[in-house]
Formats: sequence, C-alpha cells, structure tokens
Amino acid sequence: MRFIRDWRHAVSVLLVGLPLAAGLTPTGAAAAEVNVYTTREPGLIKPLFEAFTKQTGIEVRATFVQQGLAERVAAEGRNSPADLLTEADYGSLINLAERGLIQKIDSPILNTAVPAALRDPDGGWYALSMRARAIWVSKDRVSDQTLTYEGLADPRWKGRVCTRAGQHPYNIGLISRMMVKTGAEATGKWLAGVRANLGRKPGGGDRDVARDILAGICDIGIGNSYYVGLMRSGKGGKNQESWGNAIRVILPTFADDKGSHVDVSGAAVARFAPNKDNAVKLLEFMVGDEAQKIYAEIDYEYPVKEGAKIDPLIAALGKLKIDPEPLTAVAARRKEASQLVDKIGYDN
Ligand SMILES: [Fe+2]
Repeated sequence: MRFIRDWRHAVSVLLVGLPLAAGLTPTGAAAAEVNVYTTREPGLIKPLFEAFTKQTGIEVRATFVQQGLAERVAAEGRNSPADLLTEADYGSLINLAERGLIQKIDSPILNTAVPAALRDPDGGWYALSMRARAIWVSKDRVSDQTLTYEGLADPRWKGRVCTRAGQHPYNIGLISRMMVKTGAEATGKWLAGVRANLGRKPGGGDRDVARDILAGICDIGIGNSYYVGLMRSGKGGKNQESWGNAIRVILPTFADDKGSHVDVSGAAVARFAPNKDNAVKLLEFMVGDEAQKIYAEIDYEYPVKEGAKIDPLIAALGKLKIDPEPLTAVAARRKEASQLVDKIGYDN
C-alpha cells in the first residue's frame, strides 16, 4: 500500500511496497484501489490496510489528513478522490454526516458487527473501535477502587484534579453525556465543581495527566484507556512508561452505575466515492476478526465486535461496561456542552 502523509497540502510520499507493480494487474487493466482519508496516525493504521491488500489485492492509498478532513473533502466536492473517510472520534463522524459528505450504505455485515448505539442510525458512519474515558488516580496516594464521574466534583479532590482542556472533543463528549444523563443544570454544577478541584490549568494531552500525577501535581485525572496501553507498553519511551506505572486506572460509571463513557473511532463511505464498492469492502474488512484484532493489538483500543481479542494491557484494566445512551443522543448536546465550558471558564 502507499501512505501519503499530508499536513495542509504539504505532502511527502511514503511508499510501503506496491503489491501490483506500476498500478497494473498482470492483464494490464487498472489495479483495483481504494482511497482512504484518515486522521489516524499512519503507523497505527498501516498494518490493517496491508492485511486488506494481502487478502483482496485491492491497493489502499491512504492519505493522512491530520486536521480539517471534513473541510478538505467539502472543498474537493465531486472531484474528491476519497472513498473511505476515517475519523478518530464520533463528533467528527457526525460532523461528516451533518455536512452531507458521506453516503448511506446498507451492509448486513456492518449492521451485525457494530452495536446499534455505536453507529449512525441512518447507515452513514460506523464505529470501528472504542475507548473508555477513564479516571486515573495516583497508585500511592488514592485507595478508592470504584469512582463515578460525578465524584470528580467532590470537594475531597480540591487542588488534586488534572485534565486536558475542557473544550477538547474527548471532554466535550463526556460533558455531553453528563447532560444527557443528568440535565443541563446538574451538569453545570458538576463541571463548576470539577473546575474548583483543578490542581493546574487544563491543557496538554491525557498522558500529561499521568505525568503530573507522577510529579505530585495532581492525584486524580481523566484519560482515555488506550493511552494506558501506549504508556505502559514502553512504546512512547521510558518516561511515559513511568507515567503509566504511576497511575491506577478506574473504569468509572455515572452515578446510575450503568457504565463508562466511551468514544469511538470509525469510518464512513464518502458521498462521491469513485470506488464505492471497494470502500464498502474495506469497511466490512475492518469489522472482521482479523482487523478488529489488529486494532486491539496496535492501538490499545477495545474492538467494537463482540468477542474480538483485547490487548492484555487493556484487558487488565477490568471489564468495560458501556453506558447505553446512543452516541447520537450524546452528540446532540455537544454545542451546549461547549458553551457550558466557556460559561464557567473551565479552560481559563
Ligand atoms: Fe487521543
């Protein structure tokens, strides 16, 4: 497959082996291909595309679009070469749908593999993997075994909480779900309570929360489950490994005890996909046992497909119970959640 790395049209091309020389089949016909625009890091998603090419002979041309994927596809319009669009969070997937940039597909394979709460009810986007928004605590200074998201506002945590920016989509997702479950007023009080507990200005990434717990700046924070695998595996270096080992991970629930907030990565077929059939094939491949296993192994996420293998570092975090509110209901509160973050000055 080929991987094209693209930051705002500054392009460098990485050739990762061409299974069909010069783009031609042995009979001289044009090779089957599928063009993917992805916001995911190329190194993480590449093995999956290579497995697809090996199985089907369809060449994957993947373009890494770190920012503004929707804007780019919208600007390209009918001339866009994109067939499949992958995004790293459900907010971006829903944005694609709302802007009319994807098309509905009807695939029994996808509808069987992906739980209804984790896909577009209209058949647009499909979750491919998921991650829990977990609570990380200091291994040494916190002994709680279970915690709720609501509990982050408890005054006992005053000066002890670290998070990335409230406006980051990961936190907007959590705040939106809190709105669905408890209403706007209760969510406002809760978020103000969390803000009052902050040990530092919100910012950085999730892994910086673990770094700051190790440094004693905070005792508790919020972070996505896959970062725990990335840190503890040592893939990000010795420093990150020590951050990962300084924390204990709690898979929290809301006060109703139904489950954790999960976000998803996912994909959709582009509205003007020149190779629609191949895009559907790739999407179906991505919810198959092989691809779901690759996701679990390389990206430390939870597979969406029931029964697919989970990486041991993530399985060790405990059994994930998923809050049952559909992602579409959560997404409907995003704007309100963002306004709330500004209103209480969470990031100031
Ligand atoms: Fe992330």
